[in-house]
Amino acid sequence: MKPQLSDKWALITGASSGIGEEFANQLAAKGMHLILTARREDRLQQLAEKLFQLHGTKTVVIPADLIQPEGVEKLIKEIRSLPDPVTLVVNNAGFGEVSSIENSDLQKLIDIVQVNISVVTRLTYEFLPEMMARNDGGVINVSSVTAFQPVPYMGVYSASKAYVLHLSEALWAELYESDVRITALCPGPTKTEFFDKAGATSWLSKNFAHTSSQVVSKALQYYESSHPFCIPGIKNWLLALVTKFGRRRRVVWEARKVFHKLAKEKQTEKVD
Ligand SMILES: NC(=O)c1ccc[n+]([C@@H]2O[C@H](COP(=O)([O-])OP(=O)(O)OC[C@H]3O[C@@H](n4cnc5c(N)ncnc54)[C@H](OP(=O)(O)O)[C@@H]3O)[C@@H](O)[C@H]2O)c1
Repeated sequence: MKPQLSDKWALITGASSGIGEEFANQLAAKGMHLILTARREDRLQQLAEKLFQLHGTKTVVIPADLIQPEGVEKLIKEIRSLPDPVTLVVNNAGFGEVSSIENSDLQKLIDIVQVNISVVTRLTYEFLPEMMARNDGGVINVSSVTAFQPVPYMGVYSASKAYVLHLSEALWAELYESDVRITALCPGPTKTEFFDKAGATSWLSKNFAHTSSQVVSKALQYYESSHPFCIPGIKNWLLALVTKFGRRRRVVWEARKVFHKLAKEKQTEKVD
């Protein structure tokens, strides 16, 4: 059965750009009211105004830096002060970094673990019990196709997305007998600010990528049909499948060829 979304509330993390912003567009178009969070408050406010004009839906903006534990606590406290329950959590905020071992910023890698793993775990377990008590609601956790294989020079990022996929699939099975659902979204390359921020500035100009709109439409379709995971695009789906059958060392070696080049490019840019 399709979940009832209209006139209910969704929390979207990382809604100030890219895939998160598009979740806001598409969920508001379905009549959902939104709690939007990210660090760039101005962008969230602009988005809230746009959504109200287009759809007449309500939006609460809660700026927070999810790297900081106090940012996460503030977000939860402010959500708890709202009168209506959260029916959908979209754990989308996340980032990655292309770097070799010797050029890695260790604090940044720890911050990736905090935002991509700890915050996803916290928000998932914070809201699922009450959804189960109401037998209504669910979670979309944004993972990645990199969840299906280790990615050299993006090891922490790809491992964080494997965690998100495994956790979501495990919870999907736990929730099987309830109407509460959970879907891990595993996009391939998507046209957002992600690559510039990760230091892979040339990626989008040289490779195929989906739009956020394509990725989010598929995600919502799969969430509504209660699928445990969603890989948008046949090419990405095949890639994920191939990694299952190849020898593990061969799979990681093939990935190394691509990402070694990226890490080198980034290093050269730094020196220039
Ligand atoms: N683009 C791709 O090819 C791709 C592929 C697979 C998976 N993904 C995943 O998709 C998700 C969305 O990324 P995107 O591609 O849409 O990139 P994006 O445009 O860079 O969006 C990332 C979002 O996360 C937020 N965020 C990052 N660090 C944060 C922090 N410390 N506190 C609060 N919010 C934070 C950003 O907001 P502020 O900077 O305003 O805080 C922004 O709204 C990520 O989980 C990413 O790993 C992306």
